[in-house]
Amino acid sequence: MHTVRRFSSFLLISGLLASSCAAHAQERDKAVLAWRGEQPVRAKHGMVVSVHHLASDAGLNILREGGNAVDSAVATAFALAVVHPIAGNLGGGGFLLLRTHDGKSTFIEFREKAPLAATETMYQDAKGNIIPDASTLGYRSIATPGSVAGLAYAERTYGKLGLKRVIAPAIKLASDGFALTAEEANELTESDLARFPESRSLFQRDGKFYRAGEVFKQPQLARTLERIAADPDDFYHGKMAQELVADLSKGGSLITRDDLAQYSVVERKPIIGEYRDYTIISAPPPSSGGIVLVSALNILERFDLAQMKDRSAPWIHFITEAFRRAYMDRAEYLGDPDFNRIPTAELISKDYAAAWSKSIEPDRASPSAALKRPAGFLPLAPSTAGTRQKESPDTTHLSVVDAEGNAVALTTTLNDSFGSHVTAGSLGFLLNDEMDDFTSKLGTPNMYGLIQGPANAIAPGKRPLSAMTPTIVLEDGKLRYVLGSPGGGRIITTVANIFLSATAGKLNIQEAVDAPRFHHQYLPDKLYLEPGVDSRVQDELRDMGHTLDLGDGHWSNGECIAIDPKTGELLAGHDHRSSYGSAAGY
Ligand code: GLY
Repeated sequence: MHTVRRFSSFLLISGLLASSCAAHAQERDKAVLAWRGEQPVRAKHGMVVSVHHLASDAGLNILREGGNAVDSAVATAFALAVVHPIAGNLGGGGFLLLRTHDGKSTFIEFREKAPLAATETMYQDAKGNIIPDASTLGYRSIATPGSVAGLAYAERTYGKLGLKRVIAPAIKLASDGFALTAEEANELTESDLARFPESRSLFQRDGKFYRAGEVFKQPQLARTLERIAADPDDFYHGKMAQELVADLSKGGSLITRDDLAQYSVVERKPIIGEYRDYTIISAPPPSSGGIVLVSALNILERFDLAQMKDRSAPWIHFITEAFRRAYMDRAEYLGDPDFNRIPTAELISKDYAAAWSKSIEPDRASPSAALKRPAGFLPLAPSTAGTRQKESPDTTHLSVVDAEGNAVALTTTLNDSFGSHVTAGSLGFLLNDEMDDFTSKLGTPNMYGLIQGPANAIAPGKRPLSAMTPTIVLEDGKLRYVLGSPGGGRIITTVANIFLSATAGKLNIQEAVDAPRFHHQYLPDKLYLEPGVDSRVQDELRDMGHTLDLGDGHWSNGECIAIDPKTGELLAGHDHRSSYGSAAGY
């Protein structure tokens, strides 16, 4: 058996250039724009795909040592906490979707929680104005982290090898270090890290920035990982909890020993939907991912996408109209299910989607401001308002399939790049700024205009609404795709783009991952396009009344696996938008 692995084709080029962001962006654009004809990585027995090649290798080695998909996913996630500090984490949260080879599926939810001292208006000043940066940067933006509890729970409940074995690769990466590429070295120069002395010291050597090719070691993180391997509970109830709270409270964080002690992982039933011959298994609340994905697909089932050319104007138009409607429902109904009744069954019902689809005109955009939800299907929505939610591009996703056919889709996040930018000094890891995923102030539209309602208001112990969408797809009951991506509010449309291209669009999984994305989120009423959509198609979309926005460059990072239905071969699509990721299989 041999290992197959492929880096993004432009990794070497960017390494040689050893230089600027601009050069990297150019290479990335070239690679992504050349998406047609790109082939997936193939393997027979097991496959791991993630945003960092060292993390994918860690997961692959665990598979080869006899670990199952959960062992491998947990190993990959811990390794990402070391080699991809921009999003991989111990101080954040996430979701692990598992489907076992015997057909059972479960969703392990380890989303962060608001501290017990949090209040609905904690990010507003005395006049009710939003305090700039308060929910996105620094100690008060931190929510109680769930990743350590979630990964330890997954390993204990569904893994075979035990925590010590699966953390070992991460410990080695942290203590031995790893050579940084130009892009990674550049990421560590982020100016907001310098605002916090521990972060400046750890990631920026107090101003003597790392350069391409230098080895980045994290001895404090290695020690913390060793302690977690020995006793993960210590992070929430023991000495580590004490140290973490001591570190964070110095800077004014609201997190206390009680917050950590009361943190709990929840196993939830995934959202299950049907789309033509496919069964969609995806993320339930507190993620909006599964509901929005399934409701958009339900609407799209009324149109024959397979007869349209992938990335043609009709293709983009119909999918956009489905996104618009599903995101309108997201805005008004979704939040933490432990705090609100979410009308899930109603939102993903086929009858409701059929009624929604009737308002879609085949050659005309529906202005969001005039959109009317079909009556008689949903309970009354809470009164809606804008929120200061940011796009958070630096979540990260990994997909794993093992030799038995167990599959894991795991998405984890610090929210923003480097989260709150606060490092727990004695423990050597970054903390999230997940508090910004709540509604900071009703009635105030944000710069991105992603709308949410009171269902997602801040409350003590509540989980903020997420868009993370780890998804597993069956075809005729058999495992067919493992999907997911980062991208903030664009995660759901990224997963939908990839799934629809791989099915109705007849692209292979690599092409589907690389193809230019499009996104609509109801408000603002704009159709966002990545570079690479044909200019004639853009003109046709404008003629239909769509307002195009081409200014955001590339977004998201799909790390996905397809299973060939005839041969059972594993086919991986690693996103060429990232230069240091890889698929690793055997
Ligand atoms: N913080 C990104 C998400 O949960 O959607």
